[in-house]
Amino acid sequence: MCGIVGYIGKRDVAPLLLEGLQRLEYRGYDSAGIVITSPKATGLKMVKAKGRVRDLEARVPKRFTGTTGIAHTRWATHGAPSDENAHPHLDAENKVAVVHNGIIDNATELRAKLLADGAEFRSETDTEVITHLIARSGAETLEERVREALRHIEGTYGIAVMHADFNDRIVVARNGSPVVLGIGEKEMFVASDVAALVSHTRQVVTLDDGEMATLKADDYRTYTTEGSSTQASPTTVEWEAESYDMGGHDTYMHKEIFEQADAVDRVLRGRIDDRFSTVHLGGLNLDAHDARKVRRVKILGCGTSYHAGMIGAQMIEELARIPADAEPASEFRYRNAVVDPDTLYVAVSQSGETYDVLAAVQELKRKGARVFGIVNVVGSAIAREADAGVYVHAGPEVCVVSTKCFTNTTVAFALLALHLGRIRDLSVADGKRIIAGLRELPAQIEQMLAREDEIKKLAAEFAEAKSMLFIGRVRGYPVAREASLKLKEVSYIHAEAYPASELKHGPLALIEPALPTVAIVPDDDLLEKNRAALEEIKARSGRILAVAHQEQEKADHTIVVPKNEDELDPILMGIPLQLLAYHTALALGRDIDKPRNLAKSVTVE
Ligand code: F6R
Repeated sequence: MCGIVGYIGKRDVAPLLLEGLQRLEYRGYDSAGIVITSPKATGLKMVKAKGRVRDLEARVPKRFTGTTGIAHTRWATHGAPSDENAHPHLDAENKVAVVHNGIIDNATELRAKLLADGAEFRSETDTEVITHLIARSGAETLEERVREALRHIEGTYGIAVMHADFNDRIVVARNGSPVVLGIGEKEMFVASDVAALVSHTRQVVTLDDGEMATLKADDYRTYTTEGSSTQASPTTVEWEAESYDMGGHDTYMHKEIFEQADAVDRVLRGRIDDRFSTVHLGGLNLDAHDARKVRRVKILGCGTSYHAGMIGAQMIEELARIPADAEPASEFRYRNAVVDPDTLYVAVSQSGETYDVLAAVQELKRKGARVFGIVNVVGSAIAREADAGVYVHAGPEVCVVSTKCFTNTTVAFALLALHLGRIRDLSVADGKRIIAGLRELPAQIEQMLAREDEIKKLAAEFAEAKSMLFIGRVRGYPVAREASLKLKEVSYIHAEAYPASELKHGPLALIEPALPTVAIVPDDDLLEKNRAALEEIKARSGRILAVAHQEQEKADHTIVVPKNEDELDPILMGIPLQLLAYHTALALGRDIDKPRNLAKSVTVE
């Protein structure tokens, strides 16, 4: 949510920062800005624009040259998208420039004090208070001025600061919003996400909360907000620069849907143990003794990750016979939940930065709970905060709407469930059965994706709907929830998901020809019950699209999905519905990779 990129070195900085912003645009896209300088320059040069990075690029004048700069792409929190509210924010003398991700909780109070002290604000943002606080500091160095300003700040931030009087450096700080340094040869980078760095360097240093850094062209140092030095050694980013490209697809969403067979292959790779019909999850650090003591599993995530967690809970109950449930992390952290020492808490997050999930993890740890992470981004805040965990290895997900990470997370849950099950009471035969099912997944995903044309035709029909109902039962219900979320966020068609068993208790009143129903109908022990729901809808002239393992007589159309083991079926059943959401949105001309009002990585509350 919001993207920051900065550079100091010898290269012409503006094109480099604009390219970085393009790569970060998925984190926010309502306005953007850039400020630059160079060692010989006397001041800062800035351009800002409401809209996309391309709108900013169009405004950048020809002779906008420099070798140091910071830039930002915004997702509005305080103040509507506008030129004025776009970052960077400068002080009255145009000497201090700040870009910021996060939310300053005490901004109103600080603003009132600064106004009383004669500060003139140019924007409605919370960020501008940081600029004025730094400008008002009389400390000798820029580092001290920033540190002094941060002492007044309550809230979350990832900031990058430039100062016209200290133009040999960029000072950055982190508290709750990601800041990554990119280490180059006589050049340094900073960004809120490695996506902006990997085409230049794969050597990175991820700052911890409470950490700051000074970047100079040939050197960097890290230290705490209290001023003591920290030892941060660079690590190598495992994702290649090309994995951030569109790879011949028209959108990232399409590319990421079609990457799923390979992605699933990666999450399985090296983890299956045929000898004992189980899996190795190296990062889990849970021996048999501890695993047997787990009495409950509580899964916490938001949005799509929460839905993957619902599927995970079902798998853990079925395979490991441990009571399990999933809850939105955003709710859990505010309801003063009872924290139980025998419960294993699992935090799920693609980005590993979602603030609600991170805050829930921190609260749980403060109360002595054991927390596992199921995360995609290596080294992200949640991955580091968790006691142990499993990476889902889906590769970078750039489209705001999550697809391949959902699928890989459900597979990671299947691995966790199998691991726990085999330590407890799951038989060798069942272990073998699940492993065989997991191995079949990549080929079955390919078979599913080969049906794109059929789904595209259906989407043309559904694009006319004003609203849609998604139903499923037990294993199928989380699939219905996720499919409904996918459709609404990318196509803006209203969609609602219901357990099929609840139809009679209310939603049946909605059924009419204008409201299509998508029904998840797996070939499992609830098949007849699901069929009964289809009868009820058909009897009221409802239109039905079934996602099933065999043609459904009552459905107007059935997308036939390859059958796997019952417990693993939900992994595959969501995939055609990702394509349905995609093609419906395409038919409606939506901005598929960047749906309105949304941003990837929700690092604020
Ligand atoms: C939906 C979507 C969001 C995210 C949610 C959590 O397609 O992408 O609902 O799933 O914001 O994000 P992560 O998984 O990064 O914690």
